[in-house]
Amino acid sequence: MEFLGDDDLDVSGVVANCRMNRERHLTGSNGYEREMRFNPLALLKTTAATTGRARWLDLCCGSGEALVEAAKIVEAEDLQIDIVGVDLVRSFVGGETEHRCLRLVGASLTDWQPGGQFDLITCVHGLHYIGDKLGLVARAASWLTENGRFAANLDMNNIKLRERESAGRIIVAELRRNGFTYSFRTKLIQCDGRQQVRLPFTYLGADDKAGPNYTGQAAVDSHYEQVSE
Ligand SMILES: C[S@@+](CC[C@H](N)C(=O)[O-])C[C@H]1O[C@@H](n2cnc3c(N)ncnc32)[C@H](O)[C@@H]1O
Repeated sequence: MEFLGDDDLDVSGVVANCRMNRERHLTGSNGYEREMRFNPLALLKTTAATTGRARWLDLCCGSGEALVEAAKIVEAEDLQIDIVGVDLVRSFVGGETEHRCLRLVGASLTDWQPGGQFDLITCVHGLHYIGDKLGLVARAASWLTENGRFAANLDMNNIKLRERESAGRIIVAELRRNGFTYSFRTKLIQCDGRQQVRLPFTYLGADDKAGPNYTGQAAVDSHYEQVSE
């Protein structure tokens, strides 16, 4: 099987398509709170109240709708919270320049690096389109503050291990060993506190012909090989 590299994946119709839901709100039935099972802004407010300031990084932020809504509350309530959103497609809603606490970045997460650490890193239905999903999960966990939280939707069916049948179980066991929680039911991965992640898998490449995953949308399979330690 021939895999796609990062550059090909970034221009794949599955990844850069205009049909996916990029307009989730902060709360409500089409909102981040529902998808993450916690309210991001409430968590940031608690952190800011304790430490004086909080930073939120949203990977694959889509149009940035949820972030703009959060930025409006941050400014209205004079909260000490900074928000950064990153997405491959620059389909950002207005507000990028209107809110001093918000920065929206057009970049591919295959090689993007943030400055500084974050109290909250979310990736709401973005990992489905990433090639090296485990690599991004590991990097995100290293960008957290000591007590920061990483949370993302992840379908283990989109991760394949060469010559291994039960890839999901093997990978989740390794993720748990590295400080993550994962629920096969909710398909949520989370970690609380910065982690230096070491996973025994080598990324081989991506397959954009995987078809729909549990979201009903076409997703990307990520292929790995297990390496002996
Ligand atoms: C289903 S949308 C979710 C958007 C947003 N989180 C929401 O819930 O409204 C997935 C997003 O991932 C972005 N994406 C896919 N591959 C990416 C990459 N390599 N780097 C950055 N963003 C990427 C897409 O452009 C898309 O906006």
